[in-house]
Amino acid sequence: MMFCVSFPGFIDTPDDSPLSSAPVAQSLTEVHPLAAHGLDIEAINSALAGRVVGSQVLWYDSISSTMDEARRLADEGRAEGLVVVAGEQTAGRGRFGRRWMSPVGSSLLFSVLLKPELRQLPYVNMAATLAIADAVAAHVRTAPTIKWPNDVRIGGLKVSGILIETDSGVGKLRYALVGIGINVDLDVSVHPEIAQTATSVNSEAKAPVDSTALLLDVLTSMDDMYASVRTGFSLTDEWASRLETLGKPVQVSWGHRVFEGIAREVDERGNLIVERDDGTTVTVAGGEVTLRV
Ligand code: BTN
Repeated sequence: MMFCVSFPGFIDTPDDSPLSSAPVAQSLTEVHPLAAHGLDIEAINSALAGRVVGSQVLWYDSISSTMDEARRLADEGRAEGLVVVAGEQTAGRGRFGRRWMSPVGSSLLFSVLLKPELRQLPYVNMAATLAIADAVAAHVRTAPTIKWPNDVRIGGLKVSGILIETDSGVGKLRYALVGIGINVDLDVSVHPEIAQTATSVNSEAKAPVDSTALLLDVLTSMDDMYASVRTGFSLTDEWASRLETLGKPVQVSWGHRVFEGIAREVDERGNLIVERDDGTTVTVAGGEVTLRV
């Protein structure tokens, strides 16, 4: 499988990748129930009428991954703004090929199909992270921050992750899929692998949060920001102001390289500028950045 990482947080799937032509594992039905795992999909569709992001919101009870289904629909030629929401993913995936596990009913799991210009791709990541941070902020006491390039965290604990996959031809972007997982009602204490590193909206809010309102807030905010990105607006300054990573000692694993330094700033496209101990700087466009304590 060939992946070409070209922008922070992005995975491009070239034409020869198995992912771009992966068969759908199951036959799927598009339904719009009034209440699906507590989500009022019909209300969300009504509220987003006339917007680009959320032009159509589809619900699936159980699906391999919202990325797979969004890709299948994108390849059918569906319009941008389509949102695929799932109650359960049997093969949810995260960055670096990791599995993304979410017990049924614990999380908001969705993918958004967008068709920006290639040069606008970095701002799509910024729009998604900012939209999640803002939507979650309305419910919790501690302001969410962004860990470069696209984790949303509260008090250093991950509350949401974003996976962006693109499909491109030579020099042209066909579409981008923005996959978002938000821990809403996840009891991290019963999952030893994330108990020390993750949190959920409900536990931070100390009350059950309305998932419909939360999803609607994320999509509305993403739509507002995406509209300004499409007109050429840069989100870099706002995004950089929310990055918890800047000024911190970091370890970077990027391809076969591992190095340490201080995360100094981001450039216009969101690449991380890391100053190493010898004073040289590295512009990091992909890979995993770990905060050193
Ligand atoms: C990460 O932090 O590694 C990114 C996680 C992204 C998970 C979401 S859940 C909805 C969408 N479908 C997937 O299979 N993955 C993304």
